Formats: sequence, C-alpha cells, structure tokens
Amino acid sequence: MKTRIGVLLGLLILPLLISAAPLKPGHDAVASAHPLATQVGMQILAQGGNAFDAAVAVSAALAVVEPYSSGIGGGGFWLLHLAKDDHDTFIDGREYAPAAASASMYQDKNGEVIPGASLNGPLSAAIPGEPAALVYLNKHYGRLTLAQDLAPAIKLARDGFPLDRLFHEMIANRVDKLKQWPAAAAVFMPGDQVPPAGYLLKQPDLARTLELIASKGDAGFYTGELAKAMVDAVRANGGIWSLADLRDYKVIERQPLVGSYHDMRIVSAPPPSSGGIVMLEALNILSGYDLPLLSDVMQKHYIIEAMRYAYRDRAEYLGDPAFVKMPLPRLLSPYYAAGLRVSILPDKATPSSDLAPVLAQAPESDHTTHISILDKDGNRVAATFTVNFRFGSGFMPPGTGVILNDEMDDFVSKTGVPNGFGLVGNSANAIAPHKRPLSSMMPTFLVTKDGLAILGTPGGSRIISMVLLGTLDYYRGGDAESIVSIPRYHMQYLPDAVYYEPDAFTPEAITGLGKMGYTLRQTNPYGNMQAITWDYKSGKVTAASDPRDIGTAIVK
Ligand code: GLY
Repeated sequence: MKTRIGVLLGLLILPLLISAAPLKPGHDAVASAHPLATQVGMQILAQGGNAFDAAVAVSAALAVVEPYSSGIGGGGFWLLHLAKDDHDTFIDGREYAPAAASASMYQDKNGEVIPGASLNGPLSAAIPGEPAALVYLNKHYGRLTLAQDLAPAIKLARDGFPLDRLFHEMIANRVDKLKQWPAAAAVFMPGDQVPPAGYLLKQPDLARTLELIASKGDAGFYTGELAKAMVDAVRANGGIWSLADLRDYKVIERQPLVGSYHDMRIVSAPPPSSGGIVMLEALNILSGYDLPLLSDVMQKHYIIEAMRYAYRDRAEYLGDPAFVKMPLPRLLSPYYAAGLRVSILPDKATPSSDLAPVLAQAPESDHTTHISILDKDGNRVAATFTVNFRFGSGFMPPGTGVILNDEMDDFVSKTGVPNGFGLVGNSANAIAPHKRPLSSMMPTFLVTKDGLAILGTPGGSRIISMVLLGTLDYYRGGDAESIVSIPRYHMQYLPDAVYYEPDAFTPEAITGLGKMGYTLRQTNPYGNMQAITWDYKSGKVTAASDPRDIGTAIVK
C-alpha cells in the first residue's frame, strides 16, 4: 500500500518538478543533416522567424539539398513545443495509401509478393504529406509568411548549390533506379553521367513547384495544374493515384505520446509511428533495474532484452490508429513491463523464438532525415521525415522536380513475408485505402527538472533503438555531442541477432554476451542523429550533428 501511495505521489510530483522550468534559453540552435539546411534555419531565425518557421524552411531546404532522404514528395512527423503555453503538439504529415490501394496489391495472381513492386516506380508511392505539413505548420504556428519560409529553399533549387560528396555517392549508388525514370535522371544525372562533387546542381522545376506552394498553399500542390501533372504521370506509368486522393489529403494534429523514465518526462511520436510506444515499453522494462549499479555486460544484456520484447509487440499490435485497435494502455503499463521483466533471465539471452510468434511486419527505410531546433524563446521542434528508401520510388513526374516516395513499402505486402530489412509484422499494418503506413520515425523531447533534450534520427527500424540509447545517454548526463556520438547496438526481435557498431562493445562485453547466447553481428556505423540540449541552471545550450555524416549544428 505504502509503495502504491509512493508511486501515486511520485506521479503527482513529477510534473511539478518538471514544469519548474525555465526562463527563455536566449539562444537559437539548429541541427540538421546538411550544412546548407542548418544555415537556412539560422537565417530564418535571424530574420525574426520562430522555431516553427525555421522547421518549415529547413524541411524545405532539405528537400532540395538532400532529396534522397526526404522531400515534398514524401512525409513525416513534426513534434512541436510552444513555449508560451508550455504545450506540446504533433503534426502527422505521414503519407496515406491511394484509395485504389488494396492489401494484396503487391502480390501476383498466385499470391506471391512481386519483388520490388512496393519499392520502385509510381505504384510504390503513397500520397505525400510533407507539403501539407509545411503549409499547416506555417499557418498555425509560424510568425513569417509561407513565402518567407520557403524563399531560401526556392533559391537553393533555382540558383543551385555545389553537390556534396554524400549526394554524389547517393546518386552513384542509385544509378539503376534513377535511369528508369527519365525526369529524375535528367535532374540528377545530367548527360547520363553521375555528376562529380562540386557540380552546381540546379533544380528549376522543383523551384517552380515550391513557388506554387509558397503562393497558393495546399492548393499549389494538392489541386490544380501540378496535381493534374502528377496524377497523369503516375497513372501513365502504372500507378493508381487520383485527383481525389490528393485533394482529400489532410495532416492530422495529434497529442504526442507522453511517458517517463524515472523522473524524466518523454514526449514522442504516437501511432502511426511505432517509435514512441516501443521506446516507452523498453524504458518501462529498464526502469526496474538499477542500471548504473550493474556491470557493463549486464547493462547491455538488459537493454538488448528490453529492445527484443518491445520490438516484438511492435510487430504484433501497431498500425494506423484510424484503422487498428491497439492495446496501448497495456503496452505502456508499468505492470505489463514488470511481467515481461520477470521472464528475462539474468544470465541468458531469450531466444526470440520463445516469444509468441508474429508473422509479417512493416518494411522500413535506411534513409530519412531529422532536424532539431530551439529558438531563443524556448519554442522547439523535433521532426523526422522521409521519402523512404534513397530517392524514394525514383519516380519524378515530368516538369515537377518532385521525387515521389516509396512509403507503400512501410506497409506489410503479405502476412508472413519479411521485408528487405528482415522485419516481421502482421495485419495491423496491412494496406488499405487512405491508411497511413506504420513508421518508426520518432522525433522526441526529453525533459527533466534540470533541462531538456531535442533528438531524433533516420535509420528505419533502428531509429527506435538509437533514440533509446540517446535517451539513456541524456539521462546519464550526456550533452548533444555525446547523445549523437555514442556507439550503437540494435536488436529488433527478428532477426534474432544483435547488430553493433565497431566501438559499441568492449572485448569483455563481446565475450560476456556471447556466453549468454547472443548472436552478435558487427555492422558499419549507422544513423544520423541531430540533437540539442539546454541546461536550465547554467543556461548552456549544446547542439550536435551526428559525426557519422555531413550535417552541422549551430548555436547562437
Ligand atoms: N520510412 C521509414 C519510417 O517511416 O519509419
């Protein structure tokens, strides 16, 4: 009884402690995956824009300078904190399936999944959400006009920018895909060649499309001439979009998912992202261990097991909340976590095959982007958005400059068939008209009585384990540099293996985990996290972009 009252008091006191926050940070900070996009964010803030204007401008700039990761032909999630009302909200600009989509649309007449059908070309493209999200963000939360927010991206597209090394490599790695779609090849492979780093890449069609959005808002993209051009091109090349699909698309403003880890408040992505739920379930499991008192090997063991159990539930239960009933109170209950914890042995890996089996799961991409922004008033944005795989579907409707996503691949094409990333799942994430595919993208805020962190990353299914490790690092006192840099490891239930970066495990950990029965697979470095922290007491703001990639972070 005493403990219960203690828990209740704790729950009541926690928000009080946490809202004992803050004066204004007095600094602006932007972290993004591309130096030009980070500069655009700082420019908009210097012009008098707030964090939300900066988010619109940086998102649009990334559509120009990093179109292999995200773009206005894609979608994503924008998590916002409004300082003046101390209020968090979540803009769901996730794509939805066209009305003509069906659960078996990527299967042949024998019911076999057609390889690549959900990954390449216009049939793999869902209806984009990013343009609507940017218009919505500007209209409801920005201080500047939409034209002001989009101006830097339009300039980058029209005047061009020098191709960076990474962009060059992305084109070189996707030559086959781009070559299939002439409009895309004309932009990214002029003269049928992969342009060298330093090449001045201009995208005049994309500049015109952005101008249409800047002057007409939603109507510039979702109705009118551009919409007709996109639908005609999609249908002429085997796709199933209609004008009504575009006209009817709406962003959804949702309540963010809120939970806690000890005395830290966590604000993250709700469904149709799986990210917040999976991370909170894992943290609930972990909160029953005194991690700092455990050896390095035991800490890793429990963190990996928490990942395993939480990812398994992702596979079974999660999907678009408009279509699936999900047992969220149970998945997020500390009592449920306690039940899972008792089945974790202290000296042994749990074989994933011992957990109740789940059949098919959502495929996900390894390319996506994340931005973190804090303005001097304390408004903040964490946003993760994508065209799914590199250059999405590869398809660009001629004359638009817009690469369409291949987000349809985030659905389950057929129960029981794992995707390109070896993930499994079930009918909760089957394809249906105007359904949003399950995502792992999880822009996140962490708030303690001493400060806060803004973080997120691309990385497909690994997003969740990366944000989990970043969260534990912040809880241990890490600043932005530490959060984005810590070595990573990942377990997603199936395949039953732990993937780890070269520096993630000491030789002792490798031996110890091996003895417990883990299959360990070393992998190349992965992820591209962007983080900002603000320490209330010292007033210090730190920002960092993942050292594994070319992004930059600026604090002013
Ligand atoms: N397309 C990757 C994700 O939404 O998680």
